[in-house]
Amino acid sequence: MKNYSTDPETTGGADDREAMSEDLHDLFLDELADLYNAEKQLTRALPKMVAAAQSQELKTAISSHLQETQQHVRRLEQAAESLDEELPEKTCPAMEGLIEEASELLEEQKGKPTLDAAIIAAAQKVEHYEIASYGTVRAWAEQMGHDDAAKLLQETLDEESAADEKLSEIAMTSVNRSGEE
Ligand SMILES: [Fe+2]
Repeated sequence: MKNYSTDPETTGGADDREAMSEDLHDLFLDELADLYNAEKQLTRALPKMVAAAQSQELKTAISSHLQETQQHVRRLEQAAESLDEELPEKTCPAMEGLIEEASELLEEQKGKPTLDAAIIAAAQKVEHYEIASYGTVRAWAEQMGHDDAAKLLQETLDEESAADEKLSEIAMTSVNRSGEE
């Protein structure tokens, strides 16, 4: 009597794993597309933060992260290319929300000594969202053996973390001093 389905060690388990890996691949691409849109939204939003920033140090930090962000967009394209895939069109509502909140905050803080502190707070929320997202897709890429994609995603993750640390550093020094004035 043939009964393949009752042996969990062989057929069922292997099928489940195959289905899981296909689903994970789709989920991975979906998350890459989400990040692709998020990064593109950011390339349009960061110049507004640069313009609004009061201290030269903060302007410089955000400008240099804008250049990195343009590179992040390209790395996501390269990650997809390394898998012979194209990134589907998608909107990242989380980044839309973060940017909308940042715009409102900048408007409210206009002319106040706390403006730079507010810009840093908004920028760090964006960085933390990106760090969480890149950490996840990098881990999935490794899990699926997509080494080239994993390497590209790690490079971006390192730049997001460095940008976040730089913002913390600026917050600890100049911004806090001007807030006390
Ligand atoms: Fe980025």
